[in-house]
Amino acid sequence: MNILVLGSGGREHALTWKIASSPKVEKLYVAPGNPGTSTIAENVAIKADDFDAIADFVRKANINMVVVGPEDPLVKGIVDYFASKPEFAELMVIGPDKFSAQLEGSKEFAKKFMMKYGIPTAGFLSVTSENISEGERFLESVNPPYVLKADGLAAGKGVLIIDNIDEAKRELRNILGGKFGNAGNKVVLEQYLDGIECSVFAITDGSSYVLLPEAKDYKRIGEGNTGLNTGGMGSVSPVPFYNDEFAKKVEERIVKPTIDGINAEGMDYRGFVFFGLMNVDGNPYVIEYNVRMGDPETESVMLRIKSDLVELLEAAAKRKLSGMTVEFDVRSAATVMMVSGGYPEAYEKGKVIRGLDAVKSSVCFHAGTKMSGDDVVTSGGRVIALSSYGDTIFDALKTSYASAGCISFDKCYYRTDLGSDLK
Ligand code: AMP
Ligand code: GLY
Repeated sequence: MNILVLGSGGREHALTWKIASSPKVEKLYVAPGNPGTSTIAENVAIKADDFDAIADFVRKANINMVVVGPEDPLVKGIVDYFASKPEFAELMVIGPDKFSAQLEGSKEFAKKFMMKYGIPTAGFLSVTSENISEGERFLESVNPPYVLKADGLAAGKGVLIIDNIDEAKRELRNILGGKFGNAGNKVVLEQYLDGIECSVFAITDGSSYVLLPEAKDYKRIGEGNTGLNTGGMGSVSPVPFYNDEFAKKVEERIVKPTIDGINAEGMDYRGFVFFGLMNVDGNPYVIEYNVRMGDPETESVMLRIKSDLVELLEAAAKRKLSGMTVEFDVRSAATVMMVSGGYPEAYEKGKVIRGLDAVKSSVCFHAGTKMSGDDVVTSGGRVIALSSYGDTIFDALKTSYASAGCISFDKCYYRTDLGSDLK
């Protein structure tokens, strides 16, 4: 079949890498892709949210399946767009429809869903400019730190965790006043959950599901999990504390009730579900849902899937996932993200990346790169993800770090302590 992957980051390079290994694939395209995806697929210069241009290309190239990498096109309704056109009745679009994508696109929608289906999550209150004083009373009633979330998509920046009550109250008003644009017309206040995070992934057809390998990502920029939040500085899979007992709790308390809820709501959801979880004293709570794969978790997770991903996605699209299983690679995987100096704040672009060809023991996924003449140059905060296998996550990390040593660009930075909190 002919497949089009939408997106241009490390996640999409990793998805494309895995999809390319499927015998079911005839032609593989990525829109817009990056210099990494161009080595294993054909890049097409179309933006991931330009639905009309994507539809033209789907027609022209006889595309059978569209795999949506980022959340934006899903939240904007790409699934509904194709579903509304009879000529695309046979096209498989991997992802939820616009209504279901609110599980990621609206924190309040997700929270109400979790309450309705009894899924463990932090206590919360939705606040608009109508009930600010109720919001302030909520903040006074919980222990610090205070968790404030803009309801809508805010490019990963819409969550504030604040120690001081007066500052929390001030920020509540700032967000409602437009600090994160319209995404903050509503604010979700939450109880703080103290624990360790992990990411769990499923593919669903709307009523059945299969689980993919779990992962842990490293969000903070600095060593020792300090400093600003980033899109992710690396990941490992499997997660040492994700033992059989915890996995069972996750499946029974979170995954099953979520998929049952999706089914009960009659959601058109055929795609990836990402459960961002907090392990609080051995019990899992949902921090957030995402309606796509995680980045940089995907770069590790794809290495650990032995089954044919295209077969699984096809089964999801055709609502035939029931009875399918996923075979995991017994090896561990780890990803180290090389970023531009200054990220996640201001950073420079256009730095020539050297040494990519010297990487032999890791898969080198491109995250934020572009071509400039014959050179691959930096074009984003997160630049290159180095993913490796190992007998343990620690061995895999060692290999990724050795590969990182082969690559250089001006002001390049990466964390050297990944995994040390898991020993
Ligand atoms: P979110 O965008 O909802 O995933 O939040 C971003 C990050 O903020 C999460 O990955 C957590 O590290 C942290 N976070 C969010 N909600 C909570 C909470 N209720 N308690 C503790 N940490 C949280
Ligand atoms: N790594 C977290 C995310 O993709 O949202």
